[in-house]
Amino acid sequence: MATSTLSNSDQAKLDSYSGPPDYRTQGHHGMTPHMTHDEIERFNYLTHVTRFIGGHLRPAVSRSYEAEVEPAFVKKNGRKPANRHEVRKALLDDATFKNYSALRRANMEQRQQAGLSVVLRQGEELAERAAAIIAGDEKLLQLDPALEIPRYVTDVHHHCMPGSFYEERIEGDVTNGANYDSGFFVTIGGARDPWLTGNGEGLARTIKALDPDFKPRRILDIGVTIGHGTVPLARAFPEAEVIAIDIGAPVLRYGAARAKSMGVDNIQFVQADGADLSRYEDESFDLIVSIILMHEISFPTLRAIHAETYRLLRPGGIVAHIDISRYTGEVPLHEQAMRDWDAFYNNEPFWTTFRDLDVFDYMQVAGFSEESFFHSAPVYNHRADREDTPIVIGKGRIPAEASIRPDKHLWGARK
Ligand SMILES: C[S@@+](CC[C@H](N)C(=O)[O-])C[C@H]1O[C@@H](n2cnc3c(N)ncnc32)[C@H](O)[C@@H]1O
Repeated sequence: MATSTLSNSDQAKLDSYSGPPDYRTQGHHGMTPHMTHDEIERFNYLTHVTRFIGGHLRPAVSRSYEAEVEPAFVKKNGRKPANRHEVRKALLDDATFKNYSALRRANMEQRQQAGLSVVLRQGEELAERAAAIIAGDEKLLQLDPALEIPRYVTDVHHHCMPGSFYEERIEGDVTNGANYDSGFFVTIGGARDPWLTGNGEGLARTIKALDPDFKPRRILDIGVTIGHGTVPLARAFPEAEVIAIDIGAPVLRYGAARAKSMGVDNIQFVQADGADLSRYEDESFDLIVSIILMHEISFPTLRAIHAETYRLLRPGGIVAHIDISRYTGEVPLHEQAMRDWDAFYNNEPFWTTFRDLDVFDYMQVAGFSEESFFHSAPVYNHRADREDTPIVIGKGRIPAEASIRPDKHLWGARK
């Protein structure tokens, strides 16, 4: 570990800084787009705005809700709001909420445009770079140009990302993968996680805590985008062959080249729909995972992916998913309404309805037994010091009184 060369007083000043880290602290790999000084500073500025919205404006909306919006609702209706939808509608006329919402939406659009302007001007060069890294490795990237992209994907520019995860701009395109990767830092308000490995590492640590003797030989990761979670998973289980699937060719090309440039050689990036994995035999995987996929898929696809998962898992195998949390009785209605923002203003159509589901119902219908269910809520967000966070695994379903933080859960089952 590096020793600080700063004097105590300088270190104290540095410790009092509570803003996001500089963009230049992010990890570099073979696919990192070239960025000018001004482009980096635009990302830094937008990252500060993201933090400001979350750290200052959001609490102001809460204060306004308590002081004005809820009392006005009670006065008008003779009762408190009965659910988060009533809270959300009551907030629509509140000036503080409108400012918060408008700035947050603008910040998201600006982040996407800032990222696009970086990657579009070097789109051809990035495509050539990816092709050169991938060349000669037939298994590393397996695309299926005939794959039908599901309508729930093509209908939406997810989180204001033009072209979502799948749109092709040029031959061998990687621009949407490069935009997603390079701008993720801004979206989450800055990360002390240079390669954004937090979710994948948390997942691997949970699996190892669940069963220290579990040695998966074949792993399936569904909906990998550019492999932020897949790379740490593949590193955690270096003996395993990891199949990383997604429906989007640009993100897979970028992800394959990125992983190889990072020296990770046990992943295959495959273009496929998780709802139909008939190309793989029954019981051919030991571990199946998904990371922040579930809230982005339609309900028929949710059912189909669980059915495929059960079919593909060998007896004794483990399935584990990470995603946003179900609203339990412990999450105040106002907090629920605020967390729903993405469904209404950030092109995340299933973001709110997904919260009403008990994901274990889907697992049970697919064939997994209630006795095998487990869950955990470790702090593995991209800003936390993850190494020191103990993994706590609970048996069964996520309890109704689960704590309100973090807004992310891991859940799974054993076949
Ligand atoms: C939020 S991203 C997942 C992020 C990623 N797992 C990570 O760790 O960074 C959701 C991804 O799921 C993919 N996706 C959506 N529907 C899918 C499906 N039916 N089969 C496979 N991938 C799908 C999208 O293309 C997108 O890349």
